[in-house]
Amino acid sequence: MSTQTSQPAQSTAQRLIIAITGATGAIYGVRLLKHLRALPQIESHLLISDAGALNLHQELALKRKDIEALADVVHSVRDIGASIASGSFQSEGMIVAPCSMKTLAAVAHGLSDNLITRTADVTLKERRRLVLMVRETPFNLAHLRNMTAVTEMGGIIFPPLPSFYNQPSSIEEMVDHSVSRVLDLFKIDNQLAPRWSGLK
Ligand SMILES: Cc1cc2nc3c(=O)[nH]c(=O)nc-3n(C[C@H](O)[C@H](O)[C@H](O)COP(=O)(O)O)c2cc1C
Repeated sequence: MSTQTSQPAQSTAQRLIIAITGATGAIYGVRLLKHLRALPQIESHLLISDAGALNLHQELALKRKDIEALADVVHSVRDIGASIASGSFQSEGMIVAPCSMKTLAAVAHGLSDNLITRTADVTLKERRRLVLMVRETPFNLAHLRNMTAVTEMGGIIFPPLPSFYNQPSSIEEMVDHSVSRVLDLFKIDNQLAPRWSGLK
């Protein structure tokens, strides 16, 4: 893991930007990073919001530095001059896992008020893949309109809703099912969850 400021990393790996924000479900970001760490071709760039760090502690008793150790490069949310803030930084795209309604709202309205929302904005403007694992329940009209706006701009709204047809036996299995589908969206080969092969 390295902390980066304004210079782009010199690498031929596929870069993927991961952000953990303050919605419940920090485990989605953690499992994603754990799986990416096993893939040498992927260079992960990590951002954790302050509320995201709070939830990592609340839900998983993890410290920010425990999770940062899983990433190849870590950026401060306040470092608005970081490499990933520019469209000239080449990446496969960005996953916000989990994504709060606040971050969703900022992305929907082009409000680049920190490095997470700026990088999401750049991802959309460069027409790269942006996946928001949004989490709230129930939704109000602002949430629904913001999801529509992001979809209209080319982003993918991916609420991490568990499936039951695969008869999961643990939280990790349920989480990995969603993580697997998200990795599929980036064409990252994975066997994290069984694939549907028809009714038994
Ligand atoms: C324990 C806890 C759980 C939360 N769960 C959610 C949630 O599921 N969805 C959501 O939109 N916000 C949730 N919030 C509120 C966000 O953390 C808050 O709006 C925060 O400002 C989001 O900032 P960020 O997007 O920069 O991380 C939660 C907050 C706490 C403390």
